[in-house]
Amino acid sequence: MLSQNYPTQKPTGPLPPFLSSKFKADWKGYMMKVRDYCFEGNTDTDFRVEHNKTRAWFHMPWQDYGPQGREGIHGLTKEAQVQKQQLASSQTYVNGQTVAVGFFNDLGGYTIGQVWADHMNPNPAKSSRPNGFPVGTVIFKLLFVDVPPNQVPSLANPKEWQAYVDTCYKAPCNPQNPSETSNPRVIKQVALIQMDIAVRTDDPDAPTGWLFGTFQYNGALNRPDMWENLVPVGLMWGNDTNNRGDNHTQISFTTPPDKTDINPQLKETVINTDPAELPPTHLGWNGRLNGPVDNPISSCMSCHMTAEFPSYAMLSPAFQANPPKRGSNYWMKWFQDIDCATPFGNYLAPNGAKETGINPLSTDFSLQLSISITNFCDANPTAPVCVQPSDEATDASDKAANILSGHPTRKRAATRARRHVVQPIVRDMPEGRPRKN
Ligand code: HEC
Repeated sequence: MLSQNYPTQKPTGPLPPFLSSKFKADWKGYMMKVRDYCFEGNTDTDFRVEHNKTRAWFHMPWQDYGPQGREGIHGLTKEAQVQKQQLASSQTYVNGQTVAVGFFNDLGGYTIGQVWADHMNPNPAKSSRPNGFPVGTVIFKLLFVDVPPNQVPSLANPKEWQAYVDTCYKAPCNPQNPSETSNPRVIKQVALIQMDIAVRTDDPDAPTGWLFGTFQYNGALNRPDMWENLVPVGLMWGNDTNNRGDNHTQISFTTPPDKTDINPQLKETVINTDPAELPPTHLGWNGRLNGPVDNPISSCMSCHMTAEFPSYAMLSPAFQANPPKRGSNYWMKWFQDIDCATPFGNYLAPNGAKETGINPLSTDFSLQLSISITNFCDANPTAPVCVQPSDEATDASDKAANILSGHPTRKRAATRARRHVVQPIVRDMPEGRPRKN
């Protein structure tokens, strides 16, 4: 059962205890406190958060919609592809997928409830300035892969869930049968690989108002409570807007992550330097924070600050046929430190000019919130919020087609940008391998 009984009044209880500690002074200690907060009452109910006796957690509505939608056992949604050797050089499995489920604490649930107060006409103004998720909002997300655990050393002693998911990431699942196009759902075992956190803070050291952190599963530690095999990878509080280098980018799909390449020049990302604790992993662009199943030329915050409705911005500048050069001015628009609850869509124009004629509202770094409204509009295109004066169709299949139908030329992409095409909210270009410059 989904937990969707959102508070209608802003919760007034004490803020999460870690909020008053300085994340910069002891980032790992901070993350472990966030982890405890997310685990309490949840690990013993297998993250059926509606049964949590310690504190309330909530799910996002409208994520059960469409082929990627929630499955019925733990509410997992289909996310990105796991490429060959993405997790370790011994990982030969090629058609892997990531599935995940996210949870919001009471303050986060309050904002979801505000946006969704009218079930037939959600209001993203409630997540955009002067509104937005309140300080103290905590979000976390558990990510699982269907790669055979024995191919990945860090997935020893796996923490597995059963999931009702596609047989593989993309048909044909059986390479012997290339004409197989459908991809039926089956019950399979999936193994815990990563846990993401997002915390809305008023700490003046956090330029956007959000902190993003991630944990990676290290089964070799073999801790008695398997959830505690999740070790901190790192924490980020900004995008290092002036760092344009590319020497620490580790594209795991071409170079298996046998070693974690830490960039000591970054000032707004900190990474775990203890190889006994953190299994070798790729990070994000030039060493910014990203987890093992994330895109290695993006970063948590880069992708999340694009969250808006309508979603006019690509989640990464790399998600187009001819991506801009990494580190170029246009590329760096995705690596600014934009304030929380501020729409990113104004930053699309290639020459840096403010885009005119569009009026996206921020969903305050929550991509699930923008997905929920996008899904709703796919099913209810005539609802007032879904009718955008200058839009092309907001139909999700059109959006997917935009990206899936081969590779538009730069010119066509520019035309689309002028017509304010709504972008698919995807964690990766399907099949996409990040390009080298
Ligand atoms: C290239 C894009 C991309 C990157 C990089 C990325 N995410 Fe996400 N993330 C998404 C999308 C899309 C969703 C919504 C899909 C879902 O959860 O079902 C999401 C969902 C989440 C959520 C659930 C709350 C919400 O509504 O957004 C959290 C928390 C989260 N991500 C944290 C992280 C962290 C931490 C990192 C880095 C370690 C990260 N993400 C990297 C795209 C990305």
